[in-house]
Amino acid sequence: MKKALVCGAGGFIGSHLVKRLKAEGFWVRGVDLKYPRFSPTQADDFIVGDLRDLAVCHEAVDTRFDEVYQLAADMGGAGYIFTGENDASVMHNSAQINLNILEACRRRNSFRIFYSSSACIYPEYRQLEAENAGLAESDAYPAAPDSEYGWEKLFSERLYAAYARNHGFEVRVARYHNIFGPEGAWNDGKEKAPAAICRKVAQAGNPGEIEIWGDGEQTRSFLYIDECLEGTIRFMRSDWAGPVNIGSEEMVSINRLAAIAAEIAGKTITPRHIPGPLGVRGRNSNNKLIFEKLAWRPSQPLKSGIAKTYAWIDQQVQKTQRPKDAPKPAIRQPEIVAAE
Ligand code: NAD
Ligand code: GDD
Repeated sequence: MKKALVCGAGGFIGSHLVKRLKAEGFWVRGVDLKYPRFSPTQADDFIVGDLRDLAVCHEAVDTRFDEVYQLAADMGGAGYIFTGENDASVMHNSAQINLNILEACRRRNSFRIFYSSSACIYPEYRQLEAENAGLAESDAYPAAPDSEYGWEKLFSERLYAAYARNHGFEVRVARYHNIFGPEGAWNDGKEKAPAAICRKVAQAGNPGEIEIWGDGEQTRSFLYIDECLEGTIRFMRSDWAGPVNIGSEEMVSINRLAAIAAEIAGKTITPRHIPGPLGVRGRNSNNKLIFEKLAWRPSQPLKSGIAKTYAWIDQQVQKTQRPKDAPKPAIRQPEIVAAE
């Protein structure tokens, strides 16, 4: 039976990836600071541990794995990475994880390793306008990411490439473009625009109003989790190292994203534009290279992914939202068991 290691298996993409690898018949070990938040892990073995600690990395890679997926990172949406408040920890934590895990893999000859880089590595000067024809992989240099998160990703891309060059690693580097779907962060300050907008629409009345950071004319493309996993697995099993974009080419403004969510919810929603962390003005994926190399590219419309994500977030909101006039639930006292 083939063995896979998923670092960051308690996170959004990692927990979905574990399910996918299990469905393919792998024996899977997950590692993370925490178990997945929304459903039990399907990993055969799960180490709750800190990958900044080299000893934990050696424990995680105590045998040879056929495939290693390195998804662990200190990351979040615009509200987390563009405020500047988390810059030092984002850079330190994620770089430390990558430095450690590569050494641990080297010791056990686990050479095929996937690294999740980001669209955030692309230079700001190519993303100054809302109109963006798509960022090609070759656009990465001269480097000028707009966040420290992006700089760390770029450093780590180079670190993985160096291990491939000097130590015979079979590295696969993908640049994810804003991945979304059920069981992702939606209310903890790390949520990205798709989850945040779905949550705001779900919490709004009908008719209602939602807050949007900026003028809402900034653009992004969003990729649904299933297609992200499909691209990741196909790429990992290919004989090509990348880096490659794994993202959608369906670019929309954040106002349009809100309109799609409102339509799915069946609500009349008015956006209220407020100041907030914005990031780049316009970003889109260019999928020419992935199609050329893998004869595959994402194809699902944004709306179908948002419909599934909205349904899940609406459920979470219902679970946490008690109508103001609803009777308070009775507090259950612990049962007193009479001593014999
Ligand atoms: P996530 O935050 O849900 O998952 C990352 C996981 O890493 C978390 O569960 C976290 O607990 C774990 N982690 C962090 N520090 C750790 C440590 N010291 N030791 C062990 N585990 C640790 O994020 P995600 O959306 O699942 O993203 C997965 C990867 O893909 C990340 O590397 C991220 O930077 C990259 N990426 C994601 C997106 C996206 O839109 N989701 C876009 C570009 C790149
Ligand atoms: N998160 C969030 N919440 N964003 C909002 C909101 C809101 O309520 N309202 C408007 N936005 C705007 C942000 O200001 C930003 O301009 C845009 O929506 C997209 O925000 P995010 O989805 O949070 O982040 P991003 O696309 O700038 O960056 C994300 O994607 C990268 C990969 O493409 C981040 O998750 C990065 O970590 C990731 O690497």
